[in-house]
Amino acid sequence: MSNPAPRPGNVVNLRGQETDLSARHQTVIVLDFGSQYTQLIARRLRQNRVYCEVHPCAMAASEMAKLQPIGVILSGGPQSVYDENASRVDPAVFDLDVPVLGICYGFNLIAQQFGAEVEASADREYGRAEVEILDGSELFDSLAASETVWMSHGDRVAKVPDGFRLIASSKSAPIVGLEDAERGIYGIQFHPEVSHTASGQEILRNFLYRICGASGDWAMASYLEEAVETIRRQAPSGRVLCGISGGVDSSVVAVLLRRAVGERLSAVFVDTGLLRKDERRHMENSLGAGLGLPVTVVDAGERFLRALEGISDPEEKRRTIGRVFIEVFEREAQRLDGAGYLAQGTLYPDVIESVSIKGPSAVIKTHHNVGGLPERLGFELIEPLRMLFKDEVRQLGRELGLPEELIGRHPFPGPGLGVRILGEITPQRIRTLQEADAIFIQELRSRDLYNKVSQAFAVLLPVHTVGVMGDSRTYENVVALRAVETQDFMTADWSPLPHEFLAVVANRIVNEVRGVNRVVYDITSKPPATIEWE
Ligand code: XMP
Repeated sequence: MSNPAPRPGNVVNLRGQETDLSARHQTVIVLDFGSQYTQLIARRLRQNRVYCEVHPCAMAASEMAKLQPIGVILSGGPQSVYDENASRVDPAVFDLDVPVLGICYGFNLIAQQFGAEVEASADREYGRAEVEILDGSELFDSLAASETVWMSHGDRVAKVPDGFRLIASSKSAPIVGLEDAERGIYGIQFHPEVSHTASGQEILRNFLYRICGASGDWAMASYLEEAVETIRRQAPSGRVLCGISGGVDSSVVAVLLRRAVGERLSAVFVDTGLLRKDERRHMENSLGAGLGLPVTVVDAGERFLRALEGISDPEEKRRTIGRVFIEVFEREAQRLDGAGYLAQGTLYPDVIESVSIKGPSAVIKTHHNVGGLPERLGFELIEPLRMLFKDEVRQLGRELGLPEELIGRHPFPGPGLGVRILGEITPQRIRTLQEADAIFIQELRSRDLYNKVSQAFAVLLPVHTVGVMGDSRTYENVVALRAVETQDFMTADWSPLPHEFLAVVANRIVNEVRGVNRVVYDITSKPPATIEWE
């Protein structure tokens, strides 16, 4: 083969894939001014079949032009535009000759840029509000005269800038929507991306299809073909290594790679011994037998147990599991002849986090991944999902024929049951938790509750409590059940599962799992708690 050898430790497709996609699809640029809703804007655009990319707000207009966008959206943000260090937009964006939509902070920036005063409002508005929609804007096509919207602001625009027209108004702020249709500049004080804005989707669709001239060319079926092509270009020869966790992301990566590079793929599943009951069998059934993907299983349970002996501290457990995982994976990689590439299931939210304007957030938990491996082994990294949101990965999985059962699975943390067995990890305690957890999940599935919660699992606590069974006193373990509902796993509400359902689960666990005599239900949201207990 005449193809050049991969460069050591290089992430080939970082920029490559982005420019590739924007060249192939109509692209909207979302400039991130730090709003908690920026990603939501991007997801909504993609749901409307328009490809978009999130970029830092400081991006130069000349850089934007290279992506040949059909539109630009300025997001909201936590600052006020009159703050001394307020983030600005490159004013040349208004000369690119593409429509611009400003939302909240972005709206204030547009008003200020074109000569209107923006001031602190006496009536700050957070939450639902009614706005009056004035006639005639394309942005509001098919909206009612009065609409419920989601506001989140403490500032207001004091006058309509020259050349603009007022298109929406609310009681507490008379100017909440502006347009200069001739130049294609639009702004709204409220958030169309938030589901509480009743016609929010309509407004975004109007911007995309009526104003930017979108054709709706973003769909997972065509992305699949492009991704296969891109991977073939990125990894023209040599072995591609891919770690399988049993979750949806790594499964999609593996099946996609199999399609792209065929026999050159080596898929490796590390059995840490810290998996859910029957996890390995499920993976072998769905990927191996179901999709014909050969997976090498590495039996490393003993090794993890030995390394974890005597460790109870959560962070030390996480670090130990991470370290052993890398050692095991590394050995496996060295066994493979000529593996030059490592495939990972990095998703777009991680990419956005790392380029966004937000500062680094404190480490709450050390996350388990195979970071550091590519550099150590001289791998080139392939990340075919790095421009996709989670819902798009699921769609891609469907296109690839993954079973619905796998696509809808709750997430499972890398360190596995290691962080759900509080205190010391022993083979007996692993079995106890596996049994209790399996009962909880089985009951959720059989009562059609599994898909109504975002994540559910059991936790084994490090305390014993007194009970009575038959006529004897018991002194046994406590199992906690956790079920949460969440959009993004950054915040979560505990799920109000029906009492009689919880009673059935508790009853079964106490009766069927040896060594457990009490079951409790976790009713804490995140924050202040986290989803996992460690
Ligand atoms: P926390 O407990 O931080 O969890 O609220 C948020 C989500 O992340 C999962 N989680 C992990 N996922 N490696 C992962 O891949 C990890 O080390 C890890 N720790 C937590 C957790 O299950 C939840 O979905």
